[in-house]
Amino acid sequence: MKEFIEGLPKAELHLHIEGTFEPELMFEIAQRNQIKIPYKSVEEIRTAYQFECLQDFLDIYYQGAGVLIKEQDFYDLTWAYLQQCADQNVRHTEIMFDPQTHTERGVAFETVIKGISRACNNAQEKLGVSSLLIMSYLRHLSEEAAFETLKQSLPFKDLITAVGLDSSEKGNPPSKFEKVFAASVEEGYIPLAHAGEEGDADYVWEALDVLKIKRIDHGNNCLQDEALVKEIVKRDLALTVCPLSNTALQVVKDLKDHPLKKMMALGLKATINSDDPAYFGGQVNQNYIDTQAALDLTKDEIFQLAKNSFQYSLLDTNRKEGLIAELEAYYK
Ligand code: ADE
Ligand code: ZN
Repeated sequence: MKEFIEGLPKAELHLHIEGTFEPELMFEIAQRNQIKIPYKSVEEIRTAYQFECLQDFLDIYYQGAGVLIKEQDFYDLTWAYLQQCADQNVRHTEIMFDPQTHTERGVAFETVIKGISRACNNAQEKLGVSSLLIMSYLRHLSEEAAFETLKQSLPFKDLITAVGLDSSEKGNPPSKFEKVFAASVEEGYIPLAHAGEEGDADYVWEALDVLKIKRIDHGNNCLQDEALVKEIVKRDLALTVCPLSNTALQVVKDLKDHPLKKMMALGLKATINSDDPAYFGGQVNQNYIDTQAALDLTKDEIFQLAKNSFQYSLLDTNRKEGLIAELEAYYK
């Protein structure tokens, strides 16, 4: 099964580039930028990664991202992740980045996007891994701040495919961002959002009806509401599920209790993703491997999850069909 998963062509649809920051690279970049971090060793960093909830994690995640200053830093971070993609047979990835985490510290939007995009272009050419970018608004900040980010993104519009919504969910409902999402869609960005990770089903409803999202990041708590599940199935929206993130942030107690199989049985289109792999103990293949073992998923179910990852990506039909054909040939 491990070998089957490792060789499986797949896409990753829920990944925060700042969440791929491995401690070794964090030390290296902190040192060259002469920024102090509150850890003496890689081991000390790893022990700090114990979380009781989303906010616990976010506090540490924003602190880690604070050492990224130069375009080369964003390039190195992204390139390291894309190399992992190639190693894991991730053929396509849709990368979220949080501009506000950086612009709030005085790093220019241009620095962030140029570093990330240069790595993406290089990966397409040298590794055969395709990617696209999702600019995510931080929901703990104001809608006005999100508008400022939207404005800053416009000169780089061609490099960005979609907008997302992430950070502290509870107390920051999707409706807070109604206007900036409408404006983002006007500019040609596809609307996506985290919903139902810690927030209840009514946040998922709002993400659907107010933000008009085309895919749901996490979505676990849609299971609280039967009518909502039916609506998601009817609209054919996929969920980007992140099993090891869910256990690390105690959204799910034990992987054996994970609702992935239930979601699939209800007709929901699920995909498996790593979210913030450097923090949650595993890259995308580890998410597949551990979830398969915990829920006793069949090869057919694994194949279906990988197929969903291509089917519900934001790629054009041509590339989607090509990747699905590659997957089907592998499965056969
Ligand atoms: N930012 C990075 N990872 C996140 C997550 N799992 N939920 C919300 N915001 C995030
Ligand atoms: Zn996420």
